[in-house]
Amino acid sequence: MSKTKLLASAIALLGISAAAASGLTGDASPIFGVKIPEGYREWRLITVAHEAGKNNDIRAVLGNDIAIKAFRDGTRPFPDGTIIARLAYVYESSPQNDKVFPAPQSFVAGNPTNLQFSVKDSGKYADTGGWGYGQFENGMANPSEPLIKSCFACHVKLDASKDFVFSHYSP
Ligand code: HEC
Repeated sequence: MSKTKLLASAIALLGISAAAASGLTGDASPIFGVKIPEGYREWRLITVAHEAGKNNDIRAVLGNDIAIKAFRDGTRPFPDGTIIARLAYVYESSPQNDKVFPAPQSFVAGNPTNLQFSVKDSGKYADTGGWGYGQFENGMANPSEPLIKSCFACHVKLDASKDFVFSHYSP
């Protein structure tokens, strides 16, 4: 084995043990089996949001092509194959940016916190309004069943005409 290959395997092993140590294993969410969709980072922007309080994050909501078309056309319920991604980052002030402003005012995305997906499959996920859910940290599915059950338990509070999706399309 070449030195580069050895180094690559050592790094891969370290990655696995770090994930195991954090209690995160597997690449599919419990109950729904949602995995990180290929190419999601190339998806188009639906909107952005900021949560204060305990989460203190800033989030981008992206959609695959089916999601974007449904948002733009106002199609509800969302068609099967819709996937909405929610990428959250620490909301932090930027001393670098503030240096060029007369007063501190710049807030930016820091490190990623977690990644969530809502996946529409009306057959497979019939019990949860047609939606399957997943949450990921450092590329690994969060294995907590109570956490994954909380997704629909909260989204269902929205009236059904919105198809359990809070975000609005920002032009
Ligand atoms: C306590 C309520 C609550 C819980 C629990 C919750 N969400 Fe949400 N979710 C929201 C709200 C409100 C928004 C829109 C505003 C925001 O992002 O802060 C949202 C936005 C989203 C979005 C962007 C699309 C949309 O519906 O607006 C996704 C994707 C998402 N949530 C997935 C999940 C997943 C996956 C889980 C479980 C791991 C989850 N949510 C748990 C309330 C909740």
